Order: sequence, then structure tokens, then C-alpha cells
Amino acid sequence: MTDETTNELSEALIERLLAEMTLEEKAGQLTQFFYFAGIDAAGADGIGQGENVDQPATVEAALREGRVGSLLFVRHPAEVNRLQRLTIEGNRHGIPALFGFDVIHGLRTILPVPIALAASWDLEIIEQGQAVAAREARAVGIHWTFAPMCDIARDPRWGRIIEGAGEDPVLGAAVAAAQVRGFQGGRTVAPDRVIAGPKHFAGYGFAIGGRDYDEVDISDAQMWNVVLPPFRAAIQAGAGNVMTAYMDRNGIPATGDPWLFREVLRDTWGFDGFVVSDAQAVHNLRTHGFAADLSDAAARALNAGCDLEMVVFDPAYAHLPDAVAAGTVSVETIDASVRRLLRVKVELGLFDDPFVDEARANEVLGDPSHRVVARTAAERTAVLLKNDGALLPLDAAAVGTIAVIGPLADSRRDTLGPWVFDHDLGETVTILEGLRHRAGAGARVDYAPGIRPAQRMIPSMFDMFPGNTPVDPADFDDEAELQRAADLAAGADVAFVVIGEWQHMIGEGASRSSLELPGRQLELLQRVHATGTPVVALVMNGRPLDIGWAAEHVPAILDVWYPGTHGGHAVANLVFGDVSPAGRLPFTWPRSVGQVPLIYSHTISHQPAMQHRRYWDDDGTPLYPFGHGLSYSRFRYGPVEVDRATIVDGETVTVSVDVTNEGERAADEVVQLYVHQVHGTASRPVRELKGFRRIPIAAGATERVSFALGREQLAYWNSAVRDWVLDAAPFRVGVGGDSTVALTAAFTVAAS
Ligand code: NOJ
Repeated sequence: MTDETTNELSEALIERLLAEMTLEEKAGQLTQFFYFAGIDAAGADGIGQGENVDQPATVEAALREGRVGSLLFVRHPAEVNRLQRLTIEGNRHGIPALFGFDVIHGLRTILPVPIALAASWDLEIIEQGQAVAAREARAVGIHWTFAPMCDIARDPRWGRIIEGAGEDPVLGAAVAAAQVRGFQGGRTVAPDRVIAGPKHFAGYGFAIGGRDYDEVDISDAQMWNVVLPPFRAAIQAGAGNVMTAYMDRNGIPATGDPWLFREVLRDTWGFDGFVVSDAQAVHNLRTHGFAADLSDAAARALNAGCDLEMVVFDPAYAHLPDAVAAGTVSVETIDASVRRLLRVKVELGLFDDPFVDEARANEVLGDPSHRVVARTAAERTAVLLKNDGALLPLDAAAVGTIAVIGPLADSRRDTLGPWVFDHDLGETVTILEGLRHRAGAGARVDYAPGIRPAQRMIPSMFDMFPGNTPVDPADFDDEAELQRAADLAAGADVAFVVIGEWQHMIGEGASRSSLELPGRQLELLQRVHATGTPVVALVMNGRPLDIGWAAEHVPAILDVWYPGTHGGHAVANLVFGDVSPAGRLPFTWPRSVGQVPLIYSHTISHQPAMQHRRYWDDDGTPLYPFGHGLSYSRFRYGPVEVDRATIVDGETVTVSVDVTNEGERAADEVVQLYVHQVHGTASRPVRELKGFRRIPIAAGATERVSFALGREQLAYWNSAVRDWVLDAAPFRVGVGGDSTVALTAAFTVAAS
């Protein structure tokens, strides 16, 4: 059969089903239920509904009555098949369910957390990593992941900064597209890939005060220039799904905002996939004080463009038939959404083969090559923040005793980071284990936690998952343990102190009012430092923490993020110099929480020389700039060359530079291009990233790197004309290793 015939048959099937389905059945198709025991249905939308509900039993009843189109949170192939059978038998049309899940940075093989992946500035490893995640997910029967998170985040108090790519729209767009390519593998979802679902559309990262779920107020210019580009890139890369966001944006709940879904997503970008609400977000339209009741909420969400409702219990979309009767939603609108869902199921082949091969799953989940990808990714994400006196890499021959200190150094759960559910702690390698393994018989590696794990004041919403919160040891003698750690350090040649946040302290529902190291970690670091033994701080984090003291006193700091399943091996390979760190910060690292939000791409205003004196009680500079990261090698940048002094709209200028590795070892460099538009019809940021490339350069070698700049890079959305403009204006340009590079070259865009 030709593709055309297949398409015609599929469309005929879809239309036949639509003609046969009742309104109730259509509402069921547009409903996606969570399925897991232990869910707190009572607190699910904060209004105390659903108390004492046996969630799985409720969902199974709905399945038997044909009231479900999709399920989430099921990850065992036998369970997927059992529920799929119930779904198919439960509706007279035999329509199969679509299974979605949060496969954020791996399913069984855990990759570094998303912000770390962004810090690699390495689009290939990101794509490869998410392809591994997709392969494992599909092998257990998952068809679709709720990732990538494309929310630009500029306030590290917001816990979900860890799930995105940081502060910059150009880096964010590139990382989003790479993830979509990895998950989906193309517009058509291959058998070992999953549908990608960029989220949360849109603006969630700008939560006021960094408080999760709180409102955002974002100008149109900020939306188009900063918030939307990663989503657009994800759509252009072929993403089949988009998820709505929880919060009010400029006073309108995102899930009920037709501007976002109809105007931007569908009309402007031509998105033809399906939109899902965030969990309970349709319900929430009532909670927000926006919709009058659930029928109104359903009508508003569907009319706004939200096809599928993700829900824990009591779906608002079950009220769609009432909404039709009330005249608030049309049957045509419902049909358009049902058509999208049915089309996805047809395209995935679920009507022909709805089940997953249970026998094959373990083989895929256990694939050793997946661990290699995860380890390589972790090696490529680490950022060397400081390295005085070339303390790193360690000379294996010269180091006799290594002290490893801090509870995070030997916590398997924390090594993985948040948003993992199917991981295997048994195969997880902590930093301590990785160092021991790499040091082998060559050096002694001793360990002391020094302090007990810190705890959250407010419990985590993920505490329903076993092991989420670290155990507070009952018989821990705090003072004796601190002393033991200091003694251990005193007797060692080098001390690694692992500092950071426990993984349950970051992620969804994990915003903070402070960026300080939780617990007694600073004290521990100070005690170890006071011994005089050289200290390397290894930072396990998903946001910039207040490490000012370490930055001043500790000679070497390596940011290892939450490095994943084989993270400990990666860290060992880095500190022993098997690989040179080449990650770069995807955000500006503030000195203190009072500086946030702090971004490199601010505009220029009165007294620019005082830019870093805007507070009288603070050195207004960041602790580390956006794009920062050191190497074990040294790179020299030649003069920046532009191939033409003037371009007009439609033309491009090529910016080139020679980069030489002047060190003794091969290493990667992340070459970054920044541009400033000198004047125009709006004032433009002091500099903006407009291109980057991570390249390996052999010792002593020179590589030429070129970037093309044209309308795509230089046009921006302008509030004065309320449209995209490419100003006829002079531009300055610089290429270097971080965002502080001098802008030494120039070109002009002339009026055409
Ligand atoms: C709520 C989160 O905001 C979203 O990112 C996630 O995908 C869903 N829950 C499903 O777990």
C-alpha cells in the first residue's frame, strides 16, 4: 500500500469513528488520567476534592466505561498491556489508549538533569541522550514524554530552573530542538522513539518571586524575544505535543488562553499536533477564579485550544456534553480535538498493534551502551568554575590519600536528581564510588559524611515516592562527625567536599527563598579548608547556589550537577584528567539571592559605568558570568573577522575567528558569539548570544569557526511597532569563551 492509501484509510477510519462516537465517548477520548496508587487525590487541586478516592480503582472503572483516551504514570510493560486491554475492551470502538509519562532525563538509565545537559552546549550528546531515554520509554510501552521543558528561567529561587536550559533564548532554542530530535527522531515517531511534549506553554519560568505556580506578568516583547523562541524551535523540530502551563499570565490562566494556543501555536507557527493540559490545570480554571464551574472550565480550555485534559480525578472534560448543551462549546471544536488524538493513535500504529513486547523490555533497559551515553553526557556537562594553581586534574601518581567528604558524596538517590521514577539505585555510582573505582589500588580514598543530610521545612510533593527524602540518622553525633571529617581531610593529600542541594530540594514544588547551602555544609567546608589540605569543592546542584565563600577560599570548584546513573564515574574521569571539563554555565551565577534575577543580556540605561553599582551594599557583578567555564587547556582567540561591512535584509554576514588550543592536551572549547545592536527603534541588550559551537581542538591546533548572521538572528519583536523588525543599524560583535568577551568587530545593516 502506498503512503497515500494508508493515509486515506486512516482518515476514513477516523471519520467513521467520529461519526459513531457519542459526545460522552468523545469527552472520554479527550481525558488523560494519572494512574498510580498513593496519589494524594485530596490535595490534587488544593480544594480538598476527591478525599479517600482509590485512584487506580476509579481510573479502572472509567476505563471499563470508555471514559479514558490516555493514561500517565504507568511504566511497567505488563501493567501497560493490562490497562490497554481494559481500555480497548471498555469502549465499543476498540480505541486504544495513549500512554504518556515524565521521561525528563532518562527512564532506567538516568542522564544528567536538563539544566546540566544545557550546560554541555553539546547538541549531539543531548540528542543522543534523549534518544536513549526514548528507546527505554518506548520499550516499556510509553508513547509520549512530557519533555522537554522549554521554560526560560531567570530566577534561581524557582525550583524548576533545573528542568530547563537556563536564561538564554538562543541556547534554550537549540537545546529544545536537540531534545525533540532525540525523543522523536523526526516528525514521524519511529518505533523506538516517543512523542515529545514541549512544556509549559508559556511563561511559567517567570513566576513572581520564583514561587512555583504563582502568576507571571510578561510584556509581549519579552514573550516573543525570550519566552517563545525555545517553543518555536521545538515545534520546528517536529514536536507532536505541547503542554499548557499552570499560572496566570498577565491575568489570564495559561490553560484558558486562546492567544497562546490558537493564535501563536496553531495560526502563527502552524502546529498540527495535540495540546495537553498540565495536571489538573483545566480544573484549576475554576480554582483561579476564572471559570464558574467545571463545565465552564472545560469549555474555556477546549475553546482556547487544549485538546486533552490531564487529570488526577473528576475530569472537567466529562462536562463537555453539558457545555455543548449550554452552547458554550461546539461539536465541531470537540471533533477537531478528538480527530487530533485519534490521528496520533493511528500514526503510532496503535490500532494495529496496541501492546508492548513484555519480553523485550528488560533487554532494552539493561543495554550497557545506554550507560555509556549517560556517563559521556555527565562528563560533558560538568563546569569547571575555578581551578587555582591547576589543582585539577589530579596527578594519579602523586596522590596517595584522598578524603571525600559530605553526605551528597555517597548518596545514590541524590546523584540522580529529581524527576526519576524507574531508576535502579543498585547500579547508580556515587562520586565516592566513582573516585574509589578510578583510583584503584593507586590511592586510598577515605570517606566521612561530616554532617547529617539537611531537611526541608515544608515536605516535598514527591515524598510519596520511596527514598525521596534522605533519612535523618538517629544516632548521628554531629560534633564528633564534623571532627572526624576534618581529621580525615587533615591526613589526606587532597579533600573533595561535595556540596549542594539534596535532590528533593529542587524541582517542582521546590522553590526557595534563599540560595544558601542547606544544613551545615558551609561549616563543614570551612572546617575542612582550615586543615590546610587542598580542597576541591564538587557542587551538586540544579541552580546557582550561594557559594561565595567557596569561590573566595577554595582553590578548585567543579560543578557536576546531578550527574545521573554513572555520574560517579564521570566525575572521577574529570578530576583525574581523563577528560577535560568543557561545560559552560547556562545562567548568570549571582553572588546572593538579593541580586536575582540577574542576566547578562540586560539593556543599557543611565550611568552604564555604574551597571555593577546598582546596589550600594553589594558588588553587583555576578559570581560567574553566563557562558563561563574553565578547561584543563588554554585557548587563544584570533581577531574576529566579518566578511562584509554592510548587509541589507535578506543577506547574511559571516563572522569568523581562529581558535587555538595553546595547552598540552586535547580539549573541547565552547566558542560563543555575542552581538550588540548599537541603536535602533528600540534599545537592545548590551549583548546577546547569537551562535555557539562546542568543538574539540587538538593540542597546538587551530580551528576556524564561522557563524552566519542575518534576519533570523538579528530581527527582534519591537514593542513600538508591535511587530518583528530588522533595524537598519550598526552592530558590534565578539567571539570568545564566555559572555564577557569584548565586542571587537562591527558591521552594519543598511536600509534596503
Ligand atoms: C505537573 C508538572 O507541572 C508537569 O511538568 C508534569 O509533566 C505533570 N505534572 C505530569 O507529571
